[in-house]
Amino acid sequence: MTDPQLVLTERVRLALADAFGAEFADADPLIRPSQFADFQANVAMSLARRLPDRPKPRDVAQAIADRLADFPGTVEVSGPGFLNITLSDAWIAEQAGQMFGDPRAGVPTITPAATVVIDYSAPNAAKEMHVGHLRTTIVGDALARVHEHLGNRVVRQNHLGDWGTPFGMLIEHLLDIGEPAAVAQLEAGEGTEFYQAARQKFETDETFKRRARERVTTLQSGDPDTLRLWHVFMNATIRYFNKIYSMLGVTLTDADIAGESMYNDMLAKTCADLEASGVAVLSEGALCVFPPGFTGSDDKPLPLIIRKSDGGYGYATTDLAAIRYRVHDLKADRILYVVGNDQALHFQMVFAAARMAGWLPDSVSPEHIQIGMMLGKDGRRFKTRSGESVKLTDLLDEAIDRARAAIADRGYDDATREEIARAVGMGAVKYADLSVSHDSEYVFDFDRMLALTGNTGPYMQYAQARIRSIFRRGGVDPASVTGPIVLGEPAERALALQLLGFPAVVERVGEAAEPHRLCAFLFDTATAFTTFFETCPVVKDGVPADTRASRLALCALTLRVLETGLHLLGVPAPDRM
Ligand code: ARG
Repeated sequence: MTDPQLVLTERVRLALADAFGAEFADADPLIRPSQFADFQANVAMSLARRLPDRPKPRDVAQAIADRLADFPGTVEVSGPGFLNITLSDAWIAEQAGQMFGDPRAGVPTITPAATVVIDYSAPNAAKEMHVGHLRTTIVGDALARVHEHLGNRVVRQNHLGDWGTPFGMLIEHLLDIGEPAAVAQLEAGEGTEFYQAARQKFETDETFKRRARERVTTLQSGDPDTLRLWHVFMNATIRYFNKIYSMLGVTLTDADIAGESMYNDMLAKTCADLEASGVAVLSEGALCVFPPGFTGSDDKPLPLIIRKSDGGYGYATTDLAAIRYRVHDLKADRILYVVGNDQALHFQMVFAAARMAGWLPDSVSPEHIQIGMMLGKDGRRFKTRSGESVKLTDLLDEAIDRARAAIADRGYDDATREEIARAVGMGAVKYADLSVSHDSEYVFDFDRMLALTGNTGPYMQYAQARIRSIFRRGGVDPASVTGPIVLGEPAERALALQLLGFPAVVERVGEAAEPHRLCAFLFDTATAFTTFFETCPVVKDGVPADTRASRLALCALTLRVLETGLHLLGVPAPDRM
């Protein structure tokens, strides 16, 4: 454990328990960064109110301070009862040295490993993959990377929208225009146009409508020819999704596809079991679960419909089958659903119904990681100027084009320049998605995400590329640096103290499913590094050998933290910019 805040929490707890009794061993000592010291502990004030003899908060603080006499640093009581805590340089240097000696930069491996099922991306094949799915894809992938790094078993589940009544009409349209033309259109990402053309005929052409309806029936009955056509449609669509995944450097593969269609065979049993156990009841011909606590605007219990009155199954039925599969077959400890926040009610009801059915033991936590809506610069749902939804490959290409135009001309050859443009363009889009909290709305703005200053992808990429260039210019291989780290200048101390927080941030990102915390940490790290680099020469002539060795180690450790952090976010880290 290197994180000073956690170390202090632990130490102050022990002091609390020793001074006031074992029941305080779990109390939160309220350690916070301080203006007057490295940290302050605010616990004395609230604790004084809870103690039977109502001591003065300052006396409580003093009792804690007395028990921290051997603490590596100074502890002072101030004001009404704050504890101001300053760590010793030697302690910080020692912790930083340990972190430097560890290829994982102090990030622990969680034991026992948990199985974390992550449901993310999940575009719908009957429509174009849209910009909202960009965000569920990017955030979900970062969470998968973080959990894998922490040593958890990650099972990615791409819950594609690949089934339902529109497929009757889509298959008939595919037959009308011919397979090769249909495949070409779908692979090019024109799923929306394809869908709209089918829809148009469905609404205006009675024979087409009849054919589409019959096709739904033959598809559902498992007719081999129809299934083949469905595969033709799906494979072409998936090739387009894969093009986007590979542009983005997202870790999803075909093996992670677990679309709605995968659950078809389980739906009848899902309904039958729920009905048999009395969890589901018939209401106006439909089979419904009424989880307690959910009411509509009329105060009537809200139904989760699992079989419509015409016998059809829906989105909720599939999700109930999926939850059962994930708990029972995949052995999930945690299930993360990285999905738009407009589906919050759906997931609450599905989770509640699964608990009623006994399919979701208390030990398993399903979590809806709510994704906020993507807005255009006009503050409305993101669209092109002409109002259609935006084709994602075009959007990503534009990011790369803009990055190509923005990066400084340093005389790189074409291939290098192209590589940097791709890294910066994709890095900018991804980082912009990750750096704001996942549930807040977010304005898609190329100028802002590509800016070289502020908490942006390009800034973070530049920060790590600059450290690499320090090593290149000094003719030093970061891997050959040994330290030891010795702290003198305030900027060295501040940088080292900052770096010590890395392991705890990674753990916290995994626990809370909040990648923006890692972005904020990396940004603070890059800022601390900039101050350090401006005030502390590293490879200049005249820097004493031991100072140089220590500063090189600080550079190498910063580089490792930034590189690891960006890798966990899925943001590429180019060698030079
Ligand atoms: N395909 C759905 C959509 O685009 C998202 C699916 C999310 N996952 C789930 N298990 N329901 O809205």
